[in-house]
Amino acid sequence: MQAQEITKENIRTMVNTFYVKILKDEIVGPFFIAKLGDDMTNEHWVPHLDLLVNFWASIALGDSDYRGNPFMPHTQLGELKRETFEQWLTLFSETLDEVYIPSIAAQFKERSIIIAGNFMRNLRIA
Ligand code: HEM
Repeated sequence: MQAQEITKENIRTMVNTFYVKILKDEIVGPFFIAKLGDDMTNEHWVPHLDLLVNFWASIALGDSDYRGNPFMPHTQLGELKRETFEQWLTLFSETLDEVYIPSIAAQFKERSIIIAGNFMRNLRIA
């Protein structure tokens, strides 16, 4: 059943569901595998998942557990293209539709599109 309100618990479900898709994806997956490996229970992935839960909780719930620079790591991942970002957004959108009712999914989608646009602009991706 799709969640009708945002909680830290369902953000965790959303983040986990998203990265399961990411790891299977031929376009986006390799960037994550190169940095974090292909096992979501390993010592690189576990802190990454926690970080991303906190990141989205800070955006959606106003939590203050995320302190970091979300953009910086993306300057060191090799060549990210528009296609890479578009695929990331597609998988994120699919995940949101699975986990949340449409009105909540739409809020996360809107934020993700804005952030992805900022990242692409900062990376000088046309
Ligand atoms: C082309 C699409 C993307 C790829 C391939 C990608 C890949 C990655 C990878 C591999 C990391 C881990 C880096 C490390 O630990 O050294 C990371 C971190 C992160 N990504 Fe992305 N990412 C993409 C787009 C996005 C977007 C659109 C967002 C937000 C809407 C986002 C949010 C984050 C955040 C918050 C972190 C953690 C930053 C920190 O260390 O505090 N990413 N990303």
